[in-house]
Amino acid sequence: MSQAPQFPHIVQDNMKAYLDALGDDAALFVAPHHATRSNDTEYTYRQSSDILYLCGWMDPEMVLLLRPKSEKPVVMFVQPKDPKREIWTGIRPGVEGAKQDFGADEAYPISDLAKQLPHLLMGFERLHYQFAENPTMDKLLMNSIQKANRSGRKNGLSGPDVFVHPAKVLHRLRQIKSSAEIEVMRKAVAITKKAHEEAMAMTAPGVFEYQLEAKISYVFRSHGGTGAGYASIVGGGNNAVILHYVTNDQPLRDGDVVCVDAGCELGSYTGDITRAWPVNGKFTPAQREIYEAVLAANEAAIQVCRPGIRYREIHEASVQSLTESMVRLGLLEGDVDEIIANEGYKKFFMHGTGHWLGMDVHDVGSYVDGTDAIVLEPGMILTVEPGIYIDVADESVPEQYRGIGIRLEDDILITADGYENLSADIAKSVEDVERLVGSHLS
Ligand code: GLY
Ligand code: MN
Ligand code: MN
Repeated sequence: MSQAPQFPHIVQDNMKAYLDALGDDAALFVAPHHATRSNDTEYTYRQSSDILYLCGWMDPEMVLLLRPKSEKPVVMFVQPKDPKREIWTGIRPGVEGAKQDFGADEAYPISDLAKQLPHLLMGFERLHYQFAENPTMDKLLMNSIQKANRSGRKNGLSGPDVFVHPAKVLHRLRQIKSSAEIEVMRKAVAITKKAHEEAMAMTAPGVFEYQLEAKISYVFRSHGGTGAGYASIVGGGNNAVILHYVTNDQPLRDGDVVCVDAGCELGSYTGDITRAWPVNGKFTPAQREIYEAVLAANEAAIQVCRPGIRYREIHEASVQSLTESMVRLGLLEGDVDEIIANEGYKKFFMHGTGHWLGMDVHDVGSYVDGTDAIVLEPGMILTVEPGIYIDVADESVPEQYRGIGIRLEDDILITADGYENLSADIAKSVEDVERLVGSHLS
């Protein structure tokens, strides 16, 4: 596939930071299998984000071994050049390409892994490796360590006997984005804005959910994105109550709200944005009340984002605001504090208020620090995505609110003195959304 990393400066900086952080340890990363889609054809391959982060290698059948305290710290095992296969699946960088363009100090064909690994692991006590994800690799690794231990006896050396989850070091680095990474995410969000606003503009009763999805995919790809960073959710009416609805096969109905959760992936980094709008361009009073309740929670939660606060404070602000609205609108009865304490709001808001965002839509990085939530730091990027979901069959709520699902999701960068909402200019006020809907039918 790709002959060089899309953003070489980013992966070079990432690799350097990680090698420094590893100290005397070694680390091993394994590309996931290429999954079959049907018969002998495969899904489009997506490399593991850990490997993309460190070297930008996009092809399957690859292992990355890092040994910072050795002469040749970056070792890659890759698909070798194979002209007959390359006719079908594209040019492979091969062993030479790994060294020339992807930062390998040493590279081998992937078939050499079992032969090379025992001596390459020799003398490293601690190995950063994600166990129990790939049984074949787990077994190959155990065999390699056994060989290293046996052959090392004579000179007092052995293979690793302490295994460290990549979350401990690598995922902490991935959690804090560099300014170059932030620039790429800014662009991913800018493309996402165009996609959402074009989807709003083409919305009308009778348009199918998949037509909005197709427009969104078209905009993502036509601006250089890889595509959607996760399956786009386009739920009209009660379909929006299904949180990860991706069937997207129904017509949009006059009088419904459509909820769209879609984010462009660019250079392996993804946006994650949700907007909701009335199919006919005008919210009913009840839809508007729910929309404004979610908008108020979205704004309240974004307002608390800044370095030094605990991660849970964002969710607390959103729950406080949503619960007050639920009581005011008659969705729930009782005392707001009590409803929060017994989590009664979960009937209509059953997910968290957000997650880390980066190369993975639900990005790596810890949410806790000891016994409390993690403290926010500059360079973290997270989503803020409160919602209210009322099933059409829920007879406990006033009729006018049934069959409405609304989530409003923004991508927030924590800065030195506060936050920057990367998606601030994607239409979100009632007026902006209503003005855009149906403005350019196609
Ligand atoms: N798009 C999935 C999410 O918002 O978490
Ligand atoms: Mn999200
Ligand atoms: Mn989302």
